[in-house]
Amino acid sequence: MRKKIIAGNWKMNKLTGEAAELAAAVKAGCAALSDVDVVLCPTFTALKTVSDVIAGSSIRLGAQNMHWEKDGAYTGEISAGMLRDLNCQFVILGHSERRQYFHETDAIVNRKVRAALAANLTPIVCVGELLEQREANQTEEVVTAQVTKSLAGLDETAFRRTVLAYEPVWAIGTGLTATPAQAQEVHALIRRVLAGMCNPGAAQAVRIQYGGSMKPANAKELLGQPDIDGGLIGGAALDAKSFVDIVRAAL
Ligand code: PGA
Repeated sequence: MRKKIIAGNWKMNKLTGEAAELAAAVKAGCAALSDVDVVLCPTFTALKTVSDVIAGSSIRLGAQNMHWEKDGAYTGEISAGMLRDLNCQFVILGHSERRQYFHETDAIVNRKVRAALAANLTPIVCVGELLEQREANQTEEVVTAQVTKSLAGLDETAFRRTVLAYEPVWAIGTGLTATPAQAQEVHALIRRVLAGMCNPGAAQAVRIQYGGSMKPANAKELLGQPDIDGGLIGGAALDAKSFVDIVRAAL
């Protein structure tokens, strides 16, 4: 039985004071909901603040990106060790906005995934097709390639620790959501790809989140699909009530 995992991807939003307020409201709302793993992923600048606010609760801290090297001359970058130093346990990698605006390739994502795992961070690895790829019936091919290349070279222990997020790019921040059947189809595909890369047992253990305009109104149905093990929430995570309602829908 895979434990559901709901993560809030706050993207480039919230000053530290606002982040503290949102984290406190989520902490209060999730106090009795320990059957779901809840992860908050604020901006780098708010990590310490949010870490302090959620201390003592079961809510976990995650970052939205990192560099693959341990340290060195990489101006403007943040390492896995620095994230661990701020109590992060998770890091989102390969989000479509990183791929699209910052030219991250599967090869780069793979380096980051390996570095995160080596530093004892759990990567949340994002994959998903563009609208034109879905319309050209390339979803299976695109997602298979992203999963295969992003997770290349991982051993079974690493596989089992990794979280995936299927985020169809056309559904992110657009208000369009994949139907539960569309999402389930791709989640099942991802699990088959994982089974081929590692083994069926490990593939069954891996949690695969759905992301893309998930909100309280559609969360229950999406999270009720057999291969959907959680959500990566953008817009709706910026409002404590919406986010907590999605966590409740995962129960
Ligand atoms: P959204 O974003 O919920 O606003 O669509 C999801 C994401 O980008 O992770």
